[in-house]
Amino acid sequence: MKGWYISAVLLFLSLIGVNILAQGFKGNPQKGKVIYETYCLRCHGKALDGKGPESSSLNVAPSNFHAPHSRIKDEAELQLTITRGRDLTPMHSWEDQLQPTQIRDVSAYIRSVIPYEGP
Ligand code: HEC
Repeated sequence: MKGWYISAVLLFLSLIGVNILAQGFKGNPQKGKVIYETYCLRCHGKALDGKGPESSSLNVAPSNFHAPHSRIKDEAELQLTITRGRDLTPMHSWEDQLQPTQIRDVSAYIRSVIPYEGP
């Protein structure tokens, strides 16, 4: 009887642990929307189509997140680009301005509007 009780408690604790981990790595799209509107919209546009107010003045056009080659990127790939930026383009690294959780939130926002279309 005691063994059953201990395994039930252990199962319960591991479920809580898995849940906390999963939440830790999953961004919050509502918070991400605010971040997007503050930092990204001016280039990537309100509709996430790359047509933000500043896009026409740039030497490299901002990505249209609706484009097929963008939809096949999962959140980890988006986060990598946001964190590191793209060399020789106006898409600089956001590592200094955004916390890793905020980078997760903004990628979750992009993927909440335009779902991942993996291979
Ligand atoms: C100054 C304009 C500018 C701002 C501001 C900007 N970006 Fe970009 N972004 C670009 C450009 C230009 C590219 C395309 C680079 C290329 O073609 O290699 C790009 C590319 C990207 C990509 C790669 C998309 C893909 O399909 O590979 C992601 C993800 C991205 N930006 C996210 C963001 C996020 C999130 C923010 C706000 C935190 C942001 N960008 C702010 C200009 C900008």
